[in-house]
Amino acid sequence: MHLRDFSLVHLSRPTSVRKLAPGVWALALTAALSLTLALPVVAADTSAAAQLARWSVASGKPGDAAQGEVFFNSTHGDKWSCATCHGKPATATGKHASTGKAIKPMAPAVNPEVFTDTANVDKWFRRNCKDVVSRECSPSEKADVLAYLLSLGR
Ligand code: HEC
Repeated sequence: MHLRDFSLVHLSRPTSVRKLAPGVWALALTAALSLTLALPVVAADTSAAAQLARWSVASGKPGDAAQGEVFFNSTHGDKWSCATCHGKPATATGKHASTGKAIKPMAPAVNPEVFTDTANVDKWFRRNCKDVVSRECSPSEKADVLAYLLSLGR
């Protein structure tokens, strides 16, 4: 008798779960949404100014905007320059040289999101310098590029 009572209670569970479902889904959706919205904030662990300081310290001299402009707009033995994809000047939306995809402006004055995530900055410096200079850019080249980009649109 007792056991059957127990199983009846048990069997009635799925109905109540189904009734609860929309509320649960709404909660899950809210959690997912707030996570998505919070992501850029979590990722923002640096700034263009901090990156300029980082590479200036690493190279032992302040970044040079004029040198950065030349570096950014020149080819270095291959067919692409940084400007091929990022534009010249880098205040406008860029265009990927092979895929044609739009690239957000690289000047922090125009695009406040750029240079706000250290891992992302390192990843793209590594990848793009390999494509353009056939090696990792040196700390002084990175400091110069940052000084140039920070000088734009002000
Ligand atoms: C073949 C196209 C291409 C070339 C050439 C190129 N880039 Fe990029 N770069 C990209 C793309 C695509 C992204 C990612 C954009 C995004 O996240 O929306 C990017 C992102 C970056 C970022 C990350 C910025 C941030 O914080 O989001 C840096 C730094 C960067 N590039 C530097 C350079 C430098 C320096 C050169 C020249 C040595 C260069 N790029 C050449 C395509 C290119």
